[in-house]
Amino acid sequence: MGFKLFPNLIIPLLFLIPFSSPKPRAYGQLDYNFYDRSCPNLSMIVRYGVWAALRNDTRIAASLLRLQFHDCFVNGCDGSVLLDNTENFMGEKNALPNRNSARGFEVIENIKAYVERACPLIVSCVDILTLAAREAVFLSGGTPWPVGLGRRDGFTASENAANEKLPSPFEPLGNITAKFAANGLDLKDVVVLSGAHTIGYAQCFTFKNRLFDFKGTGKPDPLLDSSLRSNLQSTCPNVDGSNSNLAPLDSQTVYRFDNTYYKNLVNKMGLLESDQALMGNPRTAAMVYDYSMYPSLFSKDFAASMVKLGNIGILTGKDGEIRKKCGSVN
Ligand code: HEM
Ligand SMILES: *[C@@H]1O[C@H](CO)[C@@H](O)[C@H](O)[C@H]1NC(C)=O
Ligand SMILES: *[C@@H]1O[C@H](CO)[C@@H](O)[C@H](O)[C@H]1NC(C)=O
Ligand SMILES: *[C@@H]1O[C@H](CO)[C@@H](O)[C@H](O)[C@H]1NC(C)=O
Repeated sequence: MGFKLFPNLIIPLLFLIPFSSPKPRAYGQLDYNFYDRSCPNLSMIVRYGVWAALRNDTRIAASLLRLQFHDCFVNGCDGSVLLDNTENFMGEKNALPNRNSARGFEVIENIKAYVERACPLIVSCVDILTLAAREAVFLSGGTPWPVGLGRRDGFTASENAANEKLPSPFEPLGNITAKFAANGLDLKDVVVLSGAHTIGYAQCFTFKNRLFDFKGTGKPDPLLDSSLRSNLQSTCPNVDGSNSNLAPLDSQTVYRFDNTYYKNLVNKMGLLESDQALMGNPRTAAMVYDYSMYPSLFSKDFAASMVKLGNIGILTGKDGEIRKKCGSVN
């Protein structure tokens, strides 16, 4: 909790920095200037909304970033993760990777309400989520990336698809890579985007198997640093009652978006088995070493992979809709 997010003096200045992109106006079917005339204050509204949410809850930056990932991996970036259950479908909020775990829905809904007041029925929920994830990383000390706009919201969501498409921390690297590949993301994207685990928390049940009796050996996971393990054993005692207790994914700089995640992996201090597994493959381990040594390489590559993530399976033009509220289709 020790890390101070940003000195108070900087805060007013934050709202003056535009993320205008010098180069092309469009990325794929998206356009950096898409809402310039129809909703000129959009990026300020989103930035303010994320800033206010972060002031109340420091963890929210991590939660918003994860929410974009969980949206984009299931039926593409279409705001499906934001939808509540209806008569026609079971939404994604209840899927195993999201239930009692995905957070930040109210933040997106609040920002959307502000945006609706400024420019009704113009801006999609998925564009708001995409901008919010970028602001969350920026306000946590990370490097921002250009966000092309013009995505539209989908009409449906799928609990089953969320269960099938999202990676689990208990899967081997090959399975995780396959899930990324299904979305057009490669091995490098796996390593780079896993760096999002430089912020936020995980519940004990997502890594507790490493602490006591790892895979029936009767011993803890040898790939987990012993002093981190003792700390985790007190956060997550070996009883079911501890399953939802929280531990930081990056125990060194919990709220700071930096490259410490990779330094941790080098030091056997990855929290999830799937994190530490990046050291178990020569190609991914080489990348981990690079990112642990060169923070600006990580910033640059993370930005590029987030742009790729935000372009998965998007709806544009006349497809989809602009939702009035993010939790339901119009
Ligand atoms: C590579 C495969 C991945 C696996 C297996 C994985 C798994 C997990 C798990 C198990 C948690 C803890 C959930 C809980 O306690 O309920 C978590 C948290 C988180 N994940 Fe991932 N994740 C992966 C990739 C990603 C990617 C690509 C991103 C974003 C770009 C991301 C961002 C986050 C963030 C920020 C948190 C913390 C959320 C919070 O504190 O609210 N993860 N992840
Ligand atoms: C733009 O949005 C910010 C944040 O909500 C608000 O403080 C500001 O007054 C808005 N500016 C205009 C011109 O609407
Ligand atoms: C502040 O954050 C807590 C979660 O830590 C949340 O329950 C609450 O609704 C938030 N309050 C506001 C005003 O956003
Ligand atoms: C990995 O993928 C294979 C093939 O799809 C599957 O049979 C196996 O159950 C997966 N492993 C885990 C731990 O999910």
